[in-house]
Amino acid sequence: MSAEIDSTAATVTEQALSRAHALASAFLASLPERPVARLPSAEEMAAALDEALPESGSDPAAVLDQWFARAERGITASPGPRFFGFVTGGVTPAALAGGVTPAALAGDWLASAIDQNAGMWASSPAAAQTELVVLRWLKELFGLPEHWAGALTSGATMANLVGLISARQWAGRRLGFDAAADGLAGQPAICVISSSAIHLSAVKCLGTLGLGRRQLRQVAAPGGSVDVAAMATLLRGIAGPVIIVGNAAEVNSGHFDDIAALADLRDAHPGGAWLHVDGAFGLFASASPRFAHLCRGIDRADSVASDAHKWLNVPYDSGFAFVRDAAILREAFAADGAYVVGGSGWDPFTHVPEVSRRFRALAAWCALKAFGRQGYRALVERCVEHAAAFARWVEATPGVELMNPAALNIVCFRVVGQGGNEAANDQLNRTAVGLIQRDGRAFVTGTVWGGRAAIRAAFDNWQTTLDDVALLQAAVKDVATDLAS
Ligand SMILES: Cc1ncc(COP(=O)(O)O)c(C=O)c1O
Repeated sequence: MSAEIDSTAATVTEQALSRAHALASAFLASLPERPVARLPSAEEMAAALDEALPESGSDPAAVLDQWFARAERGITASPGPRFFGFVTGGVTPAALAGGVTPAALAGDWLASAIDQNAGMWASSPAAAQTELVVLRWLKELFGLPEHWAGALTSGATMANLVGLISARQWAGRRLGFDAAADGLAGQPAICVISSSAIHLSAVKCLGTLGLGRRQLRQVAAPGGSVDVAAMATLLRGIAGPVIIVGNAAEVNSGHFDDIAALADLRDAHPGGAWLHVDGAFGLFASASPRFAHLCRGIDRADSVASDAHKWLNVPYDSGFAFVRDAAILREAFAADGAYVVGGSGWDPFTHVPEVSRRFRALAAWCALKAFGRQGYRALVERCVEHAAAFARWVEATPGVELMNPAALNIVCFRVVGQGGNEAANDQLNRTAVGLIQRDGRAFVTGTVWGGRAAIRAAFDNWQTTLDDVALLQAAVKDVATDLAS
């Protein structure tokens, strides 16, 4: 009897997994041709998916089919070669030429199947040890000091949180209190400074940490890089400990702060300072000898945040944080519970906000193992070459113009209307973003640069080729021409 139940269950499981495999394979195969986005309205998506909680269950394979068919209009081709919006990676293959095997994707699937709780050594020594290896490989890839502590996170926002919570803990200690244990109420304020190019996620973290989004003090970032002299002046007016947030790089055109100069300011500040660097995608510049100079000084930071679902090209969600002072990091996330039996190894939950967590390290392990240092170097260099090719095209093409030189992998540009009216031109660019997205050949996102509406294209995907860049150019050109007429 029980064998019968087991074999039925196994059949149902296999059918559901085969169905998921078939749907996934068809989706991946469709990426080169598929419209990059269809932009359904909120009403359309609600009509497709919204329904009351089912009273009873259904066949898992049929459920997958149903979901895919109903949701498909809202599935973007974001892992594909022409999704240049935000800063979006893909899912790495094991080999770029011939028999492409999606290594990171396969690792992610296996992580779901074996369903390890990667929060504690005791719940999965395999997950904890794999994560330690991945962290070590990432430090080697980016030339970061081997002794730094770290952990995988759900993305760069959480990685920023891990770095900034450590900074808060350090500052509290300097001011004579334990921020994690005692809280901030009644304590002296902790000063946080950055440039105007700070990413919204770091500002969001300041709210989460009780440091206050509005308490952030910013100096100018001409061209996207912090004005170091202005920051030095600001620092001179602050007596106590300061948290400095540096950017490597900013999200609109990929420009870097001079991290070494910020580290010098940190060292010279009499009240003490902590240097946190947001390297969500820019940290990957250090994987290439051609671009590593952009990150100069990052090994002198106190904490560094980055993303794996961007340039490491592993599936969402995945990021990582490193902190120089392991004791401060552990103090920030200290937690005690008799039921969390200690194992003999590393407990990741003592380094991150969560206790239970997904085994993200497996996808990253597979990707790093399949690509190696040279694979990532080549990926970064290819993406930067694509960005440079697109930037050259923008500069050479009437009707579009660069807003800022492309420092790495992001090109910030705009469509230029006739008549020279800036307000009308802003509207033109907002319209252009929507039209390019609707066109379906390539996906870009809008922004504001120097107070003017602009468009950005970010190059982070392993499968993008110069043909894809040409399609992006064609889509931009057609929309610019249409708008001009
Ligand atoms: C510079 C920077 N920091 C932080 C983030 C936030 O990353 P995530 O969306 O993975 O949380 C991003 C995302 O684009 C970014 O570009």
